[in-house]
Amino acid sequence: MSHLYCLLVLGFLISLCVNGAQSSIDAGTARARLFRELISRAGVYNTFPPSASELLCDQECHPLSQPPRVGIIGAGAAGLYSALMLQSLDVDFEILEADGRAGGRIYTHYFDPEVSKKATPQEAAYYNYFDVGAMRIPVMPYMDRVIGSQNWSVVSYVNSHVREPADTIDLIPYIFATNNTFQLYNNISVHSGVNASAATFRVLTSEGGDIPPSDFADGNPDTIYNDAISELIVALEQNFDAGFNKLMEFDQVSVRAYFLQKGFTNAQINWLETIEEGTLSFDKASLAQAVIEQWIFTAAPLDSWVTINGGFERLIKGLLKVLRTQPKLYNRVTAIKPGRADSLTVVVNHTFEHSYDHVINTIPLGATRVLDTSALSDLHYNTTMAWRALAYDDAGKIGMWFKTRWWEDPDVLSMPFVGGQSSTDLPIRRCVYPSYGLEVNGAPGTMIASYTWSQDAARLAAFYRSATQEEFITHVVLEDMARLHNISVSFLQDQLIDTYLWDWYNHPYSDGAYALFAPAQFSDVLPALLRPSCKGRLHTAGEATSSGHAWVVGALNSAYRAVMEVLAVEGRKDLMEKMVNLWGSLDEVDLGWFESPSP
Ligand SMILES: Cc1cc2nc3c(=O)[nH]c(=O)nc-3n(C[C@H](O)[C@H](O)[C@H](O)COP(=O)(O)OP(=O)(O)OC[C@H]3O[C@@H](n4cnc5c(N)ncnc54)[C@H](O)[C@@H]3O)c2cc1C
Ligand SMILES: *[C@@H]1O[C@H](CO)[C@@H](O)[C@H](O)[C@H]1NC(C)=O
Ligand SMILES: *[C@@H]1O[C@H](CO)[C@@H](O)[C@H](O)[C@H]1NC(C)=O
Ligand SMILES: *[C@@H]1O[C@H](CO)[C@@H](O)[C@H](O)[C@H]1NC(C)=O
Ligand SMILES: *[C@@H]1O[C@H](CO)[C@@H](O)[C@H](O)[C@H]1NC(C)=O
Ligand SMILES: *[C@@H]1O[C@H](CO)[C@@H](O)[C@H](O)[C@H]1NC(C)=O
Ligand SMILES: *[C@@H]1O[C@H](CO)[C@@H](O)[C@H](O)[C@H]1NC(C)=O
Ligand SMILES: *[C@@H]1O[C@H](CO)[C@@H](O)[C@H](O)[C@H]1NC(C)=O
Repeated sequence: MSHLYCLLVLGFLISLCVNGAQSSIDAGTARARLFRELISRAGVYNTFPPSASELLCDQECHPLSQPPRVGIIGAGAAGLYSALMLQSLDVDFEILEADGRAGGRIYTHYFDPEVSKKATPQEAAYYNYFDVGAMRIPVMPYMDRVIGSQNWSVVSYVNSHVREPADTIDLIPYIFATNNTFQLYNNISVHSGVNASAATFRVLTSEGGDIPPSDFADGNPDTIYNDAISELIVALEQNFDAGFNKLMEFDQVSVRAYFLQKGFTNAQINWLETIEEGTLSFDKASLAQAVIEQWIFTAAPLDSWVTINGGFERLIKGLLKVLRTQPKLYNRVTAIKPGRADSLTVVVNHTFEHSYDHVINTIPLGATRVLDTSALSDLHYNTTMAWRALAYDDAGKIGMWFKTRWWEDPDVLSMPFVGGQSSTDLPIRRCVYPSYGLEVNGAPGTMIASYTWSQDAARLAAFYRSATQEEFITHVVLEDMARLHNISVSFLQDQLIDTYLWDWYNHPYSDGAYALFAPAQFSDVLPALLRPSCKGRLHTAGEATSSGHAWVVGALNSAYRAVMEVLAVEGRKDLMEKMVNLWGSLDEVDLGWFESPSP
């Protein structure tokens, strides 16, 4: 059986029909279609496509006679992009942000902010930063809403709307991999160019390790991992429906369970996890999650990724420049409760009440959980359960500012390198070297000394709580770095100027790094988040509620859907049409869903 998905909105065809049986599809398109299919099969909108009479809301929706006023909670990528779309539609909005800065998980740390912010891209001081959150994007059509050349891509939009050239966003190549960086496992170090296997790192049973000599032991773990899941990717590429059904069979199982079914041993699975992911993530993530994530990482060639010169925060700065209404900072939302008629009242600091016709909540689900929503009698259990249970991964980074870029210096490393990353089973797990400031003399020696996920991140975060503990863990990091790079600790100590440590679970306004769907969560937990609550007035956005979760594009896609939901509930077909004209369409949601309940 092969479905034709036709997006018919208001009588005009906005996108092509895709016949899954005939064309192979790119990773992004597949990811988006997978998402759409999941939601439709879960019956979020009872029939697919829905009949005109089907209600969008939990209960009856009541469109307003006047244009609605929208409250947006959170000034991250999802909140700001929601605001930009509403602004373009002349819909009134207000953004409440708890933190003293906008950006959320787009966050650039400047080691010397006063100097950096005055510098130009031609000056070394401009590059004295590292990206604590988002830092790189593969160039592929799926990422167009962020980095594409279309006028609705957020980077293009900002660049064509800011007045000062200094406010434009400059995309530069991101060097994902390069020769001469290091791999160190089991205390054995080789350069990245070595096609390393378990045997290279002497983890075989014959050498006191846990992997018996075998083809596996001599194989490249990236190749083995990709091969093991590629049959699912190929199945999706060849026939979307059949591939989808196959993948969904495995949505119920963890990555480990799938590999066990395929005949791998636990020791082998542990080895693959050590190389590919954060510790224990094969137990936590569903196979479906791992497949779509790996697909994105392998779909774009490693030499066609980009980053934002000057830091990802420049994307946020740009968005703030083009918004006429700025977010209200230091406004922590503490409760959402029913307001007059069908409106919602949002409470800041337990005290200040704001009334809105619609609320778009973009804050991460961990942070949402601590809002007082007890007065909202019409929140479904499925929704509050999803707020509680949807799995988020942990992630942390330790940025270091050294006197020089010693890794680029042939006097320090016999085989120096520029950009790329090193990896290890030591606590730091991954070093990331800057891809920016490469053309500037004396660019600061800033790098990510440790980038960790999952249990690796959670464990390091225990040491970020006091100056004493930070001093201790900084020393550990330098020791790990010394071993990984085969240089002395004293050299690194002498080079070090400053350290900045951050864990995304350990901050109250994120309370997690990004969604990482656990077994069965795609099919059983996610759908409830995609349906507006409270008579269609409370909408959930943010990266977790998109096919692009864990990516900036996911935050933007979720914002698009939430704004469309608002317009649909209001029955504003005129604005829905305008929205598609201005901002293009979104292939992870079928715009047919947004048929107004009662015109
Ligand atoms: C370590 C890490 C690396 C990443 N790397 C990449 C990458 O390389 N490329 C990529 O594309 N994506 C990457 N991402 C993902 C990307 O950063 C996110 O998907 C995106 O920034 C999320 O945006 P958001 O608006 O959904 O959420 P957020 O950015 O978290 O925005 C939510 C906002 O709500 C605010 N808030 C919280 N609680 C309250 C409250 N009670 N009241 C008011 N406001 C509140 C927060 O302060 C925040 O500003 C990465 C994420 C992390 C954590
Ligand atoms: C890395 O090394 C290989 C083999 O020595 C070489 O072919 C390749 O060009 C090098 N790549 C870069 C980016 O220097
Ligand atoms: C680790 O390797 C270093 C040098 O390569 C060596 O001096 C040290 O003894 C090794 N440690 C262990 C535990 O094998
Ligand atoms: C590494 O070795 C594997 C065999 O285990 C091979 O399939 C793969 O192509 C090799 N990769 C590179 C980059 O040489
Ligand atoms: C909310 O409280 C915090 C500290 O408790 C304060 O800094 C902030 O200014 C308050 N916000 C408002 C809008 O009063
Ligand atoms: C580390 O560097 C020293 C020289 O400083 C060299 O003798 C040794 O072989 C190197 N070790 C490794 C594992 O590369
Ligand atoms: C809640 O979730 C269950 C299981 O997925 C589903 O059967 C049920 O219809 C959902 N209820 C609502 C109101 O969406
Ligand atoms: C993009 O260009 C189209 C065609 O010129 C125009 O109709 C639309 O308004 C533009 N969108 C934005 C966001 O500027």
